[in-house]
Amino acid sequence: MAEQDLYPVPPEWAAQARYDAAGYETLYGRSIADPGSFWLEQARRLDWIKRPEIAGDWSFDKADFHINWFADGKLNVSANCLDRHLAKRGDEIALIWEPDAPSDAPRRFTYRELHAEVCTFANVLKAQGVVKGDRVTIYLPMIPEAAFAVLACARIGAIHSVVFGGFSPEALAGRIEDCRSTIVITADEGRRGGKRVALKANVDAAAETAPGLKTVIVVRATGGAVTMHPRDVWYHEAAEGVPATCPPEPMGAEDPLFILYTSGSTGKPKGVMHTSGGYLLWASLTHELAFDYRPGTVWWCAADIGWVTGHTYILYGPLANGATTLMYEGLPNWPDASRIWQVVDRHKVHTIFTAPTALRALMKDGDDFVAMTDRSSLKLLGTVGEPINPEAWRWYHDVVGEGRCPIIDTWWQTETGGAMIAPMPGATALKPGSATNPMPGVDPQLVDPEGRVLTGPAEGNLVIARSWPGQMRGVWGDRDRFFQTYFTTYPGKYTTGDGARRDVDGYWWITGRVDDVINVSGHRMGTAEVESALVLHPHVAEAAVVGMPHDIKGQGIYAYVTLNAGVDPHPDLHRELIVWVRKEIGPIAAPDKLQFAPGLPKTRSGKIMRRILRKIAEGDVSSLGDTSTLADPAVVDDLVANRVE
Ligand code: WTA
Repeated sequence: MAEQDLYPVPPEWAAQARYDAAGYETLYGRSIADPGSFWLEQARRLDWIKRPEIAGDWSFDKADFHINWFADGKLNVSANCLDRHLAKRGDEIALIWEPDAPSDAPRRFTYRELHAEVCTFANVLKAQGVVKGDRVTIYLPMIPEAAFAVLACARIGAIHSVVFGGFSPEALAGRIEDCRSTIVITADEGRRGGKRVALKANVDAAAETAPGLKTVIVVRATGGAVTMHPRDVWYHEAAEGVPATCPPEPMGAEDPLFILYTSGSTGKPKGVMHTSGGYLLWASLTHELAFDYRPGTVWWCAADIGWVTGHTYILYGPLANGATTLMYEGLPNWPDASRIWQVVDRHKVHTIFTAPTALRALMKDGDDFVAMTDRSSLKLLGTVGEPINPEAWRWYHDVVGEGRCPIIDTWWQTETGGAMIAPMPGATALKPGSATNPMPGVDPQLVDPEGRVLTGPAEGNLVIARSWPGQMRGVWGDRDRFFQTYFTTYPGKYTTGDGARRDVDGYWWITGRVDDVINVSGHRMGTAEVESALVLHPHVAEAAVVGMPHDIKGQGIYAYVTLNAGVDPHPDLHRELIVWVRKEIGPIAAPDKLQFAPGLPKTRSGKIMRRILRKIAEGDVSSLGDTSTLADPAVVDDLVANRVE
């Protein structure tokens, strides 16, 4: 029934957008029929030091596995985001920074100013001995220096690894060690929702288990007290007298640009690696197509740069396109639920791009917080991170956008670099909850568990049948893991780990993860990662973690914990274990519900039957299915009887 619910392209978008429906069909058709010339033509949107003559060169087959795009091209990503705009729009605003507290003043940087800041930062990194190919860990709050640091790495060819400021010292140390980075850029403290986060202290704690860490650059953000160690350098001191120009390092299109750690179905997060040319092209192209972006309008991606959305749509895509990009330090609903719309009004935001979880939280606080703001500058509304439920979609469309703004629901992943399935505002009639159509060059397919390709309206596993420029190029330090994780389940195809449905009109509907990854407030969390953290506790014998439906977060975390023999399942221990996971990974990984389970449902071969645990967590205990293959079917009765409401 939802499929009948069609929102046509508004006439003003049809009249002004770069592509209408027929234009999209032609563009998409060419990208699939003649990828070589299509992509070489698209490559012209970037400034190359050496223009590429080869587009995609790839094979997903085991014997000949490789992925290259524009491999003979040379460019510098930061020069594409900064230098090439100087002549035409050097005095236009590149970056608007909106602080956490509404009473504090925003900051604005023109392209010329941003260029100078990035060059200065790059020179500071060079002075600390950072050279092309080094890994630089960035653990910063959402302050302008985060943008400077990221682009400074790109400028000198260092590979950045941004670690979300909400991650614990343990999680940070693991990421520093995994990519053997010897330098971390941090700040004294972060600020969010009126609270302070002790980032520098977290780095100090991480250093204890990251012996390779040699240098810490500390940005003074709040002025809060920190302890400086011999390895620590204040950024403002290091930047004194440093030149504000720095030549961009010529980079091969396939030289790594960044690593970003993300959760998978195994215990350890993996370092997703992206390279320079293809990634930037994908960031820039998808930002322009999905949002029909025009310079001169204010663009706000309300993500954190600790996630891929922040990389691609706060920084790289918009800046490559000469945009004015807004970066917000705080929370959408602090001091109150109108804050997000007040920021829109303050900066006359044209397009906002946020996550369904934020919309659901705002929706719960009622329409008055929206109605008290103007929002007349808003023309387009984006969403990303998880399937958007039609109720939240309609609220966004009807209440926030007052019915006049198309909703751009973008499906993609850290691995894909940028949007893969998404509408285009002048071309695509919308259906609430559907990400609609593939971007040019994206060849999605549905396969059944045996790998047979499903045609017509169908539901199955979502795979991508050919490479695209923004595709990740590897798991840092582990070539086998890249191939193993993504190309063995359905040989010859990229496995997304998502399920999807294609309806009678060919529209794509993402149904959610089909692997052991859960999506908590739009953030990926591997169940194995939370389990590993729990079993580190001395009283825990075993743990099993599953997702459960959650009104605001989309999915919440339900943990079943078996304690060591003789340990009392006391409420204090219950609390302690939740705090323990927060400390091991970070607040986003803390279980919403934790149940002490004397036994877990296992097959005779010892495999935990997660299907049953998921049903119990959902409260759907009447349809547990066949439990006869369990080694001890009685454990299920105990789990059901002691389910946490
Ligand atoms: C989910 C975030 C439905 C999906 C960019 C994917 C979505 C995972 C959507 C990637 C969407 C993201 N509709 N599901 N519009 N966008 N997802 O790596 O399950 O943090 O595999 O990248 O989020 O999460 P990641």
